[in-house]
Amino acid sequence: MAAKLLGFLFFSFHFLLQLHLSTGQNVVRAAYWSAGSEFPVSDIDSKLFTHLFCAFADLDSQTNQVAVSSANQARFSAFTETVRQKNPSIETLLSIGGGSSEASAFASMASQASTRKSFIDSSISLARSYGFHGLDLDWEHPSTVTEMNNLGLLLNEWKAAVDNESTSSGNTRLLLSAALFRNSDYFTLKYPIQVIENSLDWINVMAYDFYGPRWSNVTGPPAALYNPGTRVSGDYGIRTWIQAGIPSNKLVLGLPFYGYAWQLVDANNHGFFAPTNGPAISADGDLGYGQIKNFISQNSATEVYNATVVSNYCYSGRTWIGYDDTESITAKVSYAKENGLLGYFAWHVGADDDWTLSQAASQTWGS
Ligand SMILES: *[C@@H]1O[C@H](CO)[C@@H](O)[C@H](O)[C@H]1NC(C)=O
Ligand SMILES: *[C@@H]1O[C@H](CO)[C@@H](O)[C@H](O)[C@H]1NC(C)=O
Ligand SMILES: *[C@@H]1O[C@H](CO)[C@@H](O)[C@H](O)[C@H]1NC(C)=O
Repeated sequence: MAAKLLGFLFFSFHFLLQLHLSTGQNVVRAAYWSAGSEFPVSDIDSKLFTHLFCAFADLDSQTNQVAVSSANQARFSAFTETVRQKNPSIETLLSIGGGSSEASAFASMASQASTRKSFIDSSISLARSYGFHGLDLDWEHPSTVTEMNNLGLLLNEWKAAVDNESTSSGNTRLLLSAALFRNSDYFTLKYPIQVIENSLDWINVMAYDFYGPRWSNVTGPPAALYNPGTRVSGDYGIRTWIQAGIPSNKLVLGLPFYGYAWQLVDANNHGFFAPTNGPAISADGDLGYGQIKNFISQNSATEVYNATVVSNYCYSGRTWIGYDDTESITAKVSYAKENGLLGYFAWHVGADDDWTLSQAASQTWGS
C-alpha cells in the first residue's frame, strides 16, 4: 500500500516536472533585426522565425536606465505588432547594448546594487510598454574578474525581478537571454556559469568574427564550424560551454548573414590563410550576404565551399571574401539540431538576400 502510494506520488511529481519543463522553449529559430540596417520591419518574413531580437536599445551611462533613441522609438514600439502580422505566434526580445556600445557603461552599471536596479526596472517597464516578450543583454564584453562577478549579480537580480513582475502583474514572465562570447571563457576570464544557467532562458553564442581584415592580416573562415589545429571555431566554442556545465538545450548557435572582404597580396594565392593587405570593398571589409551575392554576379567571382571547415569563400582578382552561403548555414543548423542545441540565431535579418539563408536555416531545422 505504502509502496503503491509512493509510486503514485513519484509518478505525479514526475508528471508535474515534465509539465513544468514543457513550458520552456522548444526551439529558437531566430534573427536579430538591426535598426542601423534601415531594413523595414514590415518587410521581415517573420514566418521563418520563432523569435526576433530588436536591436539595439541603449544603456544611458548617466541614469543607468535602458533607453531607445528618439530616431528608433516609432519602429521599436511598433516592432512586435508589426512582425506579428505575418506570424501571430512569434516572440520578440528587446536587445540592449551591442558591439558598438560602450562596455565601460555596462561595467559601471553592474558594479552597484542601486544602478543595477535602475537598469533592471527600466528594462522591464520598457519591454512591457512596447509589448516585447523578453529582454536580451548584449554587453560586449565583461573584461575583468570583477566585471564577470558583477554580470552574475546582474543576471541573478534581473531573473528575480522578472519573476516578481510576472507574479505581481499576472503576465507571462519576460524571457531573458544574452549574447555571449563564442567560448565559456572570455580569453582567461570565466563566465559565471551557474548564474547563467539559473537565470537565462538561453544563450546566444556569438560563433563568428573569428577572422576579419581589421584583426587578421591573412584570409580566414570568419565563422568556421571546424578549424583543425586551432581553438577558433563554432564547434570548439559550443563544446566549451557544454563542458563548463551549460546544458546543450540552452545554447543557440550564431550564424552570420555577413562576411569579410580582404585584398589579397597575390591574386594567385587565394585559399584560407593567404597573406592580405587589409580590407577590401568597404572600410572594414564587412559586407552583407546580399552585397556578397551581388559582388559575385557582377565580377563572375569563383565560389568555393569548404566542407571540412564549413565556410564559403569567393575571389575575383585580388578581392577575397569569406562568408556563409547556404551550404554553411545548412551544415551549421544540422549540427545544432544533431547536438541537441536549442536552435540558432542570425545576425542580421536585413543582410539576407531575398530570404535565401533564412529559408535554408528554417527548412533544415524543420518544424
Ligand atoms: C516586486 O513587485 C512589486 C510590484 O510590482 C514591487 O512593488 C516590488 O518592489 C518588487 N520586488 C522586487 C524585489 O523586485
Ligand atoms: C601579420 O600578423 C602577424 C601576427 O600579428 C604578424 O606576426 C606578422 O608580422 C603580420 N604580417 C604582416 C605582413 O603584417
Ligand atoms: C579546407 O580548408 C582546410 C583548412 O585550410 C584545408 O586544409 C583543406 O585542404 C580545405 N579543403 C579543401 C577541399 O579545399
